[in-house]
Amino acid sequence: MTERPVVLEAVGLEKRYNVPRGLFRASATVRALDGVSFRLEAGRTLAVVGESGCGKSTLARSVTLIEPPSAGRLLYDGREVAGRSRAELKELRRTVQMVFQNPFGSLNPRKTVGAILSEPLVINTGAGRAERRERALAMMAKVGLRSDQIDRYPHMFSGGQRQRIAIARALMLNPRVVVADEPVSALDISIQAQVLNLMMDLQEELDLAYLFISHDLSVVRHIADAVMVMYLGRPVEHGPKEVIFDRPRHPYTRILLAATPRVRADERAERIVPKGELPSPLAPPPGCPFHRRCPHARDVCAVDVPPLREVDGRQVACHFAEEMA
Ligand SMILES: Nc1ncnc2c1ncn2[C@@H]1O[C@H](COP(=O)(O)OP(=O)(O)OP(=O)(O)O)[C@@H](O)[C@H]1O
Ligand SMILES: [Mg+2]
Repeated sequence: MTERPVVLEAVGLEKRYNVPRGLFRASATVRALDGVSFRLEAGRTLAVVGESGCGKSTLARSVTLIEPPSAGRLLYDGREVAGRSRAELKELRRTVQMVFQNPFGSLNPRKTVGAILSEPLVINTGAGRAERRERALAMMAKVGLRSDQIDRYPHMFSGGQRQRIAIARALMLNPRVVVADEPVSALDISIQAQVLNLMMDLQEELDLAYLFISHDLSVVRHIADAVMVMYLGRPVEHGPKEVIFDRPRHPYTRILLAATPRVRADERAERIVPKGELPSPLAPPPGCPFHRRCPHARDVCAVDVPPLREVDGRQVACHFAEEMA
């Protein structure tokens, strides 16, 4: 097997938000990300899964520098992001682009497809008008849009087509990595497969890496090479897709998988929700953050935080991972 370059690396990423708690109380801190590390190789897909509020979108905003992390390191294409000059950072940022969940909100309704796709070229390259239009047309062809659609506005397209436009826009500057935050969740099931297949074709053709955020494990099973399961801002299990799906060792991963029907695509689960309430991220429980909802919890789980460690071909944060075979 050939070595693939690591195109996106995160080391101990943290993101804290201060949230006001009313007039006479000190503000509280939400640890939306708490020590997230991963390496993403060219041409590969790392899926990030977990319940609502576990920090998936925060991770997407942090690694794309839309909202820089509070702590930790980021490397784009092997190059450290911190400490760059403005010009270097502008150049570096081109390598990691983002696709958002909502193809209705993420495209400017007053701009034509041609203008939307040209915009990154205006800002980042010296390409002239004719060249920009040429490159916009070439990208439209790549994502399955017709050339005669170039002067149309976003509202004239279906949801699936709009997501094709969003993907095209993300690819205009030849990134190495696309961070996709629930890119197909807002689309009809029948359209989801088309957009996922397009993403997989583009990955192959362009050697793209995806950080693919999804709450839908049947989608993840289809598209991912590796999976990172998050709980309250922390990775609790992370490894190759087959290992995570076939031999999960974290009780939380097991519950998520058990809640996912595998047979028919049209019977897919709504949001995956284990029993019990997600603890407030303002006051996470002591010990293992999952212990109050965990069917296997013992005394130690309420006291000691389980570190993420290597067990049987994956990273897992459970005191009893060895027993969960
Ligand atoms: N700007 C913000 N200010 C304060 N808290 C925030 C902010 N953004 C996110 N949070 C908090 O951080 C935590 C993680 O939120 P995030 O949106 O990343 O979750 P998510 O996994 O993307 O959820 P979903 O599946 O619903 O999209 C939540 O507790 C959320 O309330
Ligand atoms: Mg989100």
